[in-house]
Amino acid sequence: MVEKVNIRWVEETDSTQDEVRRHIPEYDNLSVTAAEFQTAGRGQRGNSWLARKGENLTFSMLLKFGGNDFSPLKAADQFLITKAATIGVAGYLESKGINCSIKWPNDMYFRDKKICGMLIENVLEGDYLSSSVVGIGLNVNQREFPPQLMNPTSMSVVTGQTYDTHEEMIILAGFLASAFQTSLGSESSTAEIDKEYERRLYRKDEFHEFTVCQNGSILEGKITGVTPGGLIQIVNRKGELLQFAFKEISYII
Ligand code: BTN
Repeated sequence: MVEKVNIRWVEETDSTQDEVRRHIPEYDNLSVTAAEFQTAGRGQRGNSWLARKGENLTFSMLLKFGGNDFSPLKAADQFLITKAATIGVAGYLESKGINCSIKWPNDMYFRDKKICGMLIENVLEGDYLSSSVVGIGLNVNQREFPPQLMNPTSMSVVTGQTYDTHEEMIILAGFLASAFQTSLGSESSTAEIDKEYERRLYRKDEFHEFTVCQNGSILEGKITGVTPGGLIQIVNRKGELLQFAFKEISYII
């Protein structure tokens, strides 16, 4: 079990992802670097991550493989990191009374609004991961958002409360460390992780429309699950099972 996660707070950095990557050799497994403000926060699909200074959690947790805690992880199994990270954040949000779902692959949603995003960057050595930098942006106290963000929300908008970000960082880091320990540690149970991930999948087992990115066509289908490699499985109206990788399909919300 992880006793206590080492958390470093910095006032300002470009991106906590880059800050951690610059220090991989000397930083411990499961240590966290959190920033009051990022000048060049990065999101998925090359977007920037915008978060007001001091109001939210913007941090990166380092995972190191092949050491005492985590055995080497095959590159083919890297989706396990996504599942563990989302389960960790979900457990934390649920402990705060916020029922969330996981919008595949790794956005956290409250109803139809995004409360948390993740950027997971892996360092590969041949067929194995040597480390992974799990970047998390959780909207905590921010109540107003720039208009270019599609559908943002925050813990404070959902509950009406104001949070101490440093205290919440400690609690959330504990949830994440224990989810990573359960998923990647020596006694991991993949079946349990799959179940926990799939039971929280946003829009699972309901018919909805998606855009197929390759040609812009609309697909009506229902999500039935996610493959071990992280492909989303959607059954269309004809009952055919289709599979898509990230960036091949987008939700219409
Ligand atoms: C997304 O949903 O687009 C992913 C957002 C990830 C943002 C976090 S904030 C902390 C870490 N540092 C970054 O530059 N990005 C991630």
